[in-house]
Amino acid sequence: MYAALRSIGAYVPPKILTNKDLEQMVDTSDEWITKRTGIKTRHICEDESTSDMGTKAALKAIERSGIPKDAIDMIVCATISPDYFCMPSTACMIAKKLDLSHVPAFDISAACTGFIYALATAKAFIESKMARNVLIIGAERLSAIVDYSDRTTCILFGDGAGAAIVSATEDKQEAIVDVHIEADGKYYDYLITPGCGTNKPCDEETLKRRECFIHMKGNETFKVAVKTLTSDVRDILEKNGIGTEDIAYFVPHQANYRILSAVASALKLKEEQVVVTVDKYGNTSSASIPMAINDLYEAGKLSKGDLLLLDAFGGGFTWGSALVPFAPL
Ligand code: ACO
Repeated sequence: MYAALRSIGAYVPPKILTNKDLEQMVDTSDEWITKRTGIKTRHICEDESTSDMGTKAALKAIERSGIPKDAIDMIVCATISPDYFCMPSTACMIAKKLDLSHVPAFDISAACTGFIYALATAKAFIESKMARNVLIIGAERLSAIVDYSDRTTCILFGDGAGAAIVSATEDKQEAIVDVHIEADGKYYDYLITPGCGTNKPCDEETLKRRECFIHMKGNETFKVAVKTLTSDVRDILEKNGIGTEDIAYFVPHQANYRILSAVASALKLKEEQVVVTVDKYGNTSSASIPMAINDLYEAGKLSKGDLLLLDAFGGGFTWGSALVPFAPL
C-alpha cells in the first residue's frame, strides 16, 4: 500500500498587517523588512481561533479530494499555536467542527516543519494499513504568541491554515516518493517560548518578562537553516535518484526570502520552479507549505503528476523534506 496526496486547501483571515502598519508599532521600516526578509504583508486573525482556520482549510481540501468526509479515518494537526494550552488538541477541535466523531485526532508540535512531520505520519499510517484517508492540517494563529513590542520577531509572523487529504493507493506512480524528518534538540533555545510551560509555569515574573511569546536568536537560526536545508534537500534528491530537472515545483517553508533563495540557488533551481509566498503571508510556520501549494493550485498551475519538492526548518530545531507527486483522483 502507498500514500498519495489527493488534494489541498487553505484559508487566511481577511485582516492584513502591512510593513507600514508595523512602522507605527515598533522601530522598524518597510525598507528594512523587505530587504532582510522579503515580507510585505501578513494576515492576522481578529476573532478566529487556530481550529476555526484549520476547519475552513480542511473543508476545501475535503471537497476538492472527491472523498466523502465520512471516509476520513484520521486527523493530524500540526501547530505551535493550539486553541488550548494542554488539552483538548486542536485536531480534536477540528474534528468537532467537521462533525467527525470516532476518528483518531491528535496534534504534532514540530514548529515550521510540522506539515512535513504530519505528512510523514499520514504516510506511515497508510503504508502500515492503519488508516486509508488521513486529513492533515497545518494551522497557526501566531499573532497570539508574538510580542508586538519586539521588532526582531513581530515583523516575521502571520496567521493562516492549510490542509490536505492523503489517501491509500496501490498505484506506485501516484505514491509519495519519500519523506525525511529530523531534529536536533541541542538548539532548543534558539527558537523558544521560554515561559508558561511546565518548565517555567505562568506567574507574574514570566508574564512581566514576556516569556509566553516567541523568542528567537534570528541570525544564528538563519545560518543553521541555510546549511541544514541545503544538505537535506540534496540528500533526498540523491537518495531517490531524482534530478532538479524532474521537480515541477520547489515549495520551501516560507520563513525568509533570503533563506529560500539561498537554498534554491545552491540547488541551481530555475526561478519558475521556486514557489514564493512569504511576501504576502510572512512566516505562518506549519501552515506555510500547504498554503503555498494551495496558491499554486488556485492559480491553475498545479497538474496531476507534478512532482513537488518540499522542505522546512523550524524551532526544536526540526527539519525535513519530501518528494510528493500531486495525485488528485
Ligand atoms: N527593523 C529594523 N532593524 C532591526 C529589526 C527590525 N524589525 N530587527 C532587527 N533589527 C536590527 C538589529 O537590532 C540589528 O541591529 P544592530 O546591528 O545595531 O545590532 C540589525 O538589525 C541586524 O540584526 P540581525 O538579527 O543580524 O538581522 P538578520 O539579517 O539576521 O535578519 C531575521 C533577522 C530576519 C530574523 C533573520 O535572521 C531570519 O530570518 N532568521 C531565521 C528565521 C527562521 O528561519 N526561523 C525558523 C522558522 S520559525 C519557527 O520555527 C516558528
